[in-house]
Formats: sequence, structure tokens, C-alpha cells
Amino acid sequence: MKEYLFNGDQKMEDLFYKKMLMTAPFGYAYHRIILDRNQNPVDYEFIEINEEFEKLTGLKAANILGKTVKTVLPDISDGEFDWIKHYGNVAINGERTEFEQYALPQDKWFSVQAYSSKKYFFSTIFIDITKRKQVENEKQQMQAELFHASKLATLGTLAAGVAHEINNPLAIIVGAVDIIEGRHENLEAQDLLKSTQMIRTAVDRISLIVKGLKTYARKDMENCIDVDAHAVINETLLFLRGVYKKENIEIKTKLDAPYFRICASKGKFQQVIVNLLNNAKDAFTNRRNGLIQIVTQTCDRYLVIEIIDNGVGIPADCLAKLFDPFFTTKAPGKGTGLGLSICQSIIESFGGEISVTSKTGTGSTFKIKLPIHQDK
Ligand SMILES: Nc1ncnc2c1ncn2[C@@H]1O[C@H](COP(=O)(O)OP(=O)(O)OP(=O)(O)O)[C@@H](O)[C@H]1O
Ligand SMILES: [Mg+2]
Repeated sequence: MKEYLFNGDQKMEDLFYKKMLMTAPFGYAYHRIILDRNQNPVDYEFIEINEEFEKLTGLKAANILGKTVKTVLPDISDGEFDWIKHYGNVAINGERTEFEQYALPQDKWFSVQAYSSKKYFFSTIFIDITKRKQVENEKQQMQAELFHASKLATLGTLAAGVAHEINNPLAIIVGAVDIIEGRHENLEAQDLLKSTQMIRTAVDRISLIVKGLKTYARKDMENCIDVDAHAVINETLLFLRGVYKKENIEIKTKLDAPYFRICASKGKFQQVIVNLLNNAKDAFTNRRNGLIQIVTQTCDRYLVIEIIDNGVGIPADCLAKLFDPFFTTKAPGKGTGLGLSICQSIIESFGGEISVTSKTGTGSTFKIKLPIHQDK
């Protein structure tokens, strides 16, 4: 085949392959790494680039060949990604690499492959993926908006219960103020102190509830951080207990897991707990002695959280569709059917999984498995 193409002419063969590379539909560049005295990569030189590379980066061969990247793009080290160190590893150790990265100088996203066929030299292949990244970003933003809208809708249904929960400490404050006002002339210092202490405790409780609500209503912009799952569950119950008490539903917790730190967004994790508790609450229509149990334990390297209710249960034919978006058995206007699908995407984004077992007439158990973040 080679003979047929080039008649044994090595020069023609070289030219042919070079032209193929120079006109290829992907950006191609050939470089030499530059090391300091300690053999650490500090810069790299442009030896060859193809036409597509010029188009993608806006850099022209005539201006950059023979020059180093720091001369051509002085901002190269400004972003978080260390291009020089990354390529240094390829050129020195011969390790092939593939990554997606934002390039600050071009304001573009690139899919990059880098490999070395000769020590201290390396080739890079660039594909512009900016459009795909924009679509992904828009999708993520839309999902965040949807999650937040669903959160606010849930918050609306909780408002009455939360008000009830705030009413109790308010009544205590009013009582204590009555005592101070009514007997202020012959109030003993000890009684005065007792009343002000009661006010302090009640005010602290109200501010905790308000704080919990504010965290819940906030838009979650944070990525995964180290979160104490038990603390989030307790904080959530602080503003939810009243809602359930009002409807004769008791919530019991058995948070026994010795390891309970997870890598999560606190607000999103809280959203999952609230969604599952809300579903359990709705499963008690016309039932008495409603009981919801939240149980945690550790299993291998996972934190297992179970939310167990003794509500109406879920018919077998619904179980398979339960996590589908818009699947709901609630009356129009009562539920969007998005709660569980949101729970599932949140839990999966934390590297975990969510499952359900249920028996009609007996109740349901939702089980969340999340990787433990730290053994502390
Ligand atoms: N603990 C539960 N007990 C009984 N049925 C449940 C339970 N949890 C979920 N379901 C069933 O799963 C369906 C889907 O739940 P999902 O949370 O996705 O939506 P929804 O609760 O109907 O609506 P929304 O969450 O928007 O209020 C519910 O309509 C209900 O039929
Ligand atoms: Mg729901």
C-alpha cells in the first residue's frame, strides 16, 4: 500500500503525513518542555502547530514557533489549572493524559490529549468543547432552579406547622414578661433571673428555628463539603417536629451510626430529608398513631439512613415508577411528583443510592446509602 502511494519515495511519504497532520480537523501542537536546575518543568516551547490549532487558540505559527508559552501567553499560570506541570509529567515520565479544561487566555473549554513519543517532547491534541460545556452548564443551572422551586413549594406547605413551633417559645416569653411586669415591684432577684433565663432559652429556640428555615430556603450553590449528617437531621427536625405534632405524627430518631460525616451539600441533603419526611406525613391520611423513625447505622464504608413509616404503604405496581419524574398518586395541585426524583439525583450526585421497600397497609422504608467521608 505504502509502495503504491509513494513509490518508495521517503520524502513524499513524510510530506504526505505532515500534510495530513497540518490539515487535520483537530488542533495539534508539538512542544519541548523546559526544566529548571532541579528538573522541574517551568515552561514549554512551541515547535509545531497545525491550522486547526491556530483557529482554536487564535495563535499564529509565524508568531509563536520557537517561543515559549510564558512569552506567548503570560497569563498561562493565572488559572487554577497548572498546564506546565501537567505537560511536564507527560514529557518527563511519558505518561499519556486526557482531560477537559478551561483555557483562560482563549475563554474556551478544550478536550485535550497529551502524549510523548520522545523524552522531554510532547504532542497535544485539542478539541473545542465550549458549546457542550455551555449546554451542560445551562442544564445544571436549570436543575438547580427546579430543585430550589420544589424546595420553596415544600416550604409553603410547612409554614403553618413552623408557625406553631414558634408559638410555643413565644408563649413562654409572654408568660415570663407577664411575671416581670405584674410583680415588678416586689420581684425577688432570683425570680427575675429565672424569668429572664426562660426568655433567653425561648429566644434561642426561635432563632434556631429561623436559622434552620433560612438554611433550608437558601439556594444551594455550594459543592460537596464535609457534612455532619446527624447534625443536619437534628437541625431539620427542629423546625419540622411542630408540623408533624400538629397532625398527630411522632418522629423518633435512633442516630446510632458511629461514622456520620458525608461529602454533601448541606442544603441539598436537608432537602432530601424534608422530601422523604413529607412523603411519609402524606402517607398517614386517615390513619392514627403515625410514627416515623429515622435510623442511621454504618455498613462497610457507608452511612445508611432509613426513614421508616407505618403509613398506607405503596402498591407493588407503583414501586417501579416511584422515582420517575412527575409520578404522583396525589390529587392535582397536591403534589408535583418531583420529590423523589429530586431526592434520587441529589443522592446520586453525592455518590450514594436510594431505594425503597414497602408493604401496603404496613408502611414504607426509604433507605439512603452514602459513602462515609471521614472516619471521625
Ligand atoms: N412514604 C410513602 N408512603 C406511601 N407512598 C409514598 C411514600 N413516599 C412516596 N410515595 C408515593 O410516591 C409518589 C411520588 O412521590 P414524590 O415525592 O416523587 O412526589 P409527590 O409526593 O407525589 O409530589 P411532591 O413531592 O411534589 O409533593 C407519591 O405520590 C406517593 O404515591
Ligand atoms: Mg413528595
